[in-house]
Amino acid sequence: MTEKYILSIDEGTTSTRAIIFDHHGQKVVDAQREIKQIFQNPGWVEHDANEIWEAVLSTIADALIKSRIRPSQISGIGITNQRETTVIWDKKTGLPIYNAIVWQSRQTADIANELILAGYQQEIHQKTGLIVDAYFSATKIRWILDHVPNAQQRAENGELLFGTIDTWLVWKLTGGDVHVTDYSNASRTMLFNIHDLKWDTDILKLLNIPRALLPTVKSNSEIYGQTKDYHFYGSSVPISGMAGDQQAALFGQMAFEPGMIKNTYGTGAFVVMNTGKKPQLSDHNLLTTIAYGINNQIYYALEGSIFVAGSAIQWLRDGMQLLKNSGDSEQAANASTDRNEIYVVPAFTGLGAPYWDSVTRGAVFGITRGTTKNDFIKATLQALAYQTRDVVDTMKHDAGIKIPMLKVDGGASRNNYLMQFQADILGIEIDRAADLETTALGAAFLAGLGVGFWKDIEDIKKVYQTGQVFLPDMNEEERQNLYSGWQDAVKAAQLFRH
Ligand code: G3P
Repeated sequence: MTEKYILSIDEGTTSTRAIIFDHHGQKVVDAQREIKQIFQNPGWVEHDANEIWEAVLSTIADALIKSRIRPSQISGIGITNQRETTVIWDKKTGLPIYNAIVWQSRQTADIANELILAGYQQEIHQKTGLIVDAYFSATKIRWILDHVPNAQQRAENGELLFGTIDTWLVWKLTGGDVHVTDYSNASRTMLFNIHDLKWDTDILKLLNIPRALLPTVKSNSEIYGQTKDYHFYGSSVPISGMAGDQQAALFGQMAFEPGMIKNTYGTGAFVVMNTGKKPQLSDHNLLTTIAYGINNQIYYALEGSIFVAGSAIQWLRDGMQLLKNSGDSEQAANASTDRNEIYVVPAFTGLGAPYWDSVTRGAVFGITRGTTKNDFIKATLQALAYQTRDVVDTMKHDAGIKIPMLKVDGGASRNNYLMQFQADILGIEIDRAADLETTALGAAFLAGLGVGFWKDIEDIKKVYQTGQVFLPDMNEEERQNLYSGWQDAVKAAQLFRH
């Protein structure tokens, strides 16, 4: 019998990847292409949506060619994506009317501020689970409709379509047949009511966004459509799973039970906790979001977004030139002999959860004449762990759930020093995934379930492999002392306004 596989497309902020998994959940091949970052003005971040599409096509081709797997051997395609990033295109020509506005972009901050000043924050939070911010798609849609000539009119005439990257890719892969998104991505637009699972007519009216622009919202695992030709050489392959990248990582980490929590250490770090079948609104600036919806059941999550994680290590390497390779940071931290009295607050673009403070900038505290390069590197790594504790403590508080363990993945989770310090500062077990590509694996699992490649959740649990466990090895007094030093450092950084 010819072997069958699942193809996962992981379209992230800095690169696009195509990864093929076998029936044991093992990665067979991986192809990757960088995405150009477009910075037209300070604080703006955009992508060329056509370039994303071409990158997806070429990585799929690379993966198939490298592995010699035929398109007819692909049972289903899963898509996972950078969330919130917004594309609007012409239904007839398929051409975007403006660049994709990336989640990080601040060009719509004024629109978000107007909503806050007009007093809509509470209502929008109640309905969408989100904080009113330029991060989400809603203000980005408004901005495009305001800045592209005739766009509002054309949207009202039904000539234009909106999508996050999942939607854009399904539409392209199906040759314009299918305009859909999934619950996890819809819940990041700030237009989706997470209680009644519908686009919210009040918010649409408030932002004057025509309903005709919006995709149909589907579950995270079902057949949305079939690929049309391209290099599938006539094979029609079902697209059968879809989720925003952080939700896909949660799924890939098998975090199916309430209280299960994961942290993905990428450019930023995203801590997401499954909170079960009912949405729980946070009193402390965490986001309430849809984790996934399968088999007619919705699971919700709380999320804390940390804006700077891996990018702080890149800064040590490229900006400060203290490291040759990011991986060297582990050795440097182990070689440091100070007593953890330095604090680096990497608030390069402000602070994310639970502070949501866009004004504060980075700061360093506690250096002495004896401070070395290694101490500085170690303190920067520790900042990732302290920021994670800020979010995990807030989650414990908001959800009223005991958190026995944190599942981790993403590039910086390779760093054993960081993982041990994370266990120490949280005082709980850290479970590192065997395959750090849990985002792509999560999308593959969703796609596989959608076509019966895997039968059910029990079936995928069987193929999942745990990696390494890190146990806390620090006494409570030291843990509290170090953490309260961090809290003081953040407060001091917030006081500095210049
Ligand atoms: O919310 C933004 C997040 O989905 C981006 O993830 O991995 O592309 O940086 P990533």
